[in-house]
Amino acid sequence: MMDTMQGQIKLLVSRKLPKAVENRIRRSYNAILNPDDVILEPGEIAEAAGGCDALLVTATEKLNNSVIADLPSTVRIIATYSVGYDHIDVAAAHARDIAVTNTPDVLTDATADIALLLLLGAARGAHWGEAMVRDSTWGIWAPTHPLGYQVTGKRLGILGMGRIGQAVAHRARAFGMEIHYHNRSALPDERAHGARFHDSFESLLAVSDFLSINCASTPQTRGILNEHAISLMPAGAIVINTARGDVIDDDALINALQDGRLAAAGLDVFRNEPDIDPRFRTLENTFLLPHLGSATIETREAMGMRALDNLDAFFSNRQPNDLVAS
Ligand code: DGY
Repeated sequence: MMDTMQGQIKLLVSRKLPKAVENRIRRSYNAILNPDDVILEPGEIAEAAGGCDALLVTATEKLNNSVIADLPSTVRIIATYSVGYDHIDVAAAHARDIAVTNTPDVLTDATADIALLLLLGAARGAHWGEAMVRDSTWGIWAPTHPLGYQVTGKRLGILGMGRIGQAVAHRARAFGMEIHYHNRSALPDERAHGARFHDSFESLLAVSDFLSINCASTPQTRGILNEHAISLMPAGAIVINTARGDVIDDDALINALQDGRLAAAGLDVFRNEPDIDPRFRTLENTFLLPHLGSATIETREAMGMRALDNLDAFFSNRQPNDLVAS
């Protein structure tokens, strides 16, 4: 995997990573690690990268056009420890001949699990149920309250039927849900497993008793779940987001949750994390998690190993598996 040449390669690692990943980094690279896990502001990244050949970053580092422009000329590759790469101006990196890689596949199952946790949690009120037990507000069992919503037999619309969307569909089928999806193109039958393709987002919305957002954040998808989109959904629908917060127009979602047009939302990602719109916290019909999609020990280690596989390949003059296109 490693050779002595690679040990000379200078690598900036922007965040503290799982021990097994850092051990492999130490064995292989001349690395600047971040044991205190101090967040690098955009204006600090270029200086921290002084003399580096490579950067191993996460979604908390915003590598916009001007950050990329300021990077030292020694930097040849940016490996992000994430499947999403909306925090990197990939076109700007490519214009400077800097390669970019991400970590697909290894977080698919963990993220799909969290989507189902959100779906069930939001539908069944897991958060208020748990609070009742903890706060001793749990009264005697009653036939009429508190009640959530059944998922069996409901239609699940999936926006973005990539690896994670397909893994969400696989799990939701076990709950007896009917799967619909909108994607750039229809999946071949053997991968669709009966899920129904919609060639427009509008058509998907009309059948989404539940909507799971699993698309990347791009200029085309930012704010796509807006007031108009929500107005096309069945009354009392439930929205689940494990993708990126900026795909949702927060005002539109909050208004719909407040006036009951939407029954509930299960959210793992938000605009401006962790300083989210405070209204989300006060709504009873929001089931909220702090960006836990990939947060299992196994997955976080696998993400690090995948990022290092990409770096190793690059510096061995092989093509990294996960090169990102601009
Ligand atoms: C990802 O990999 O994109 C996760 O959201 C963590 O950033």
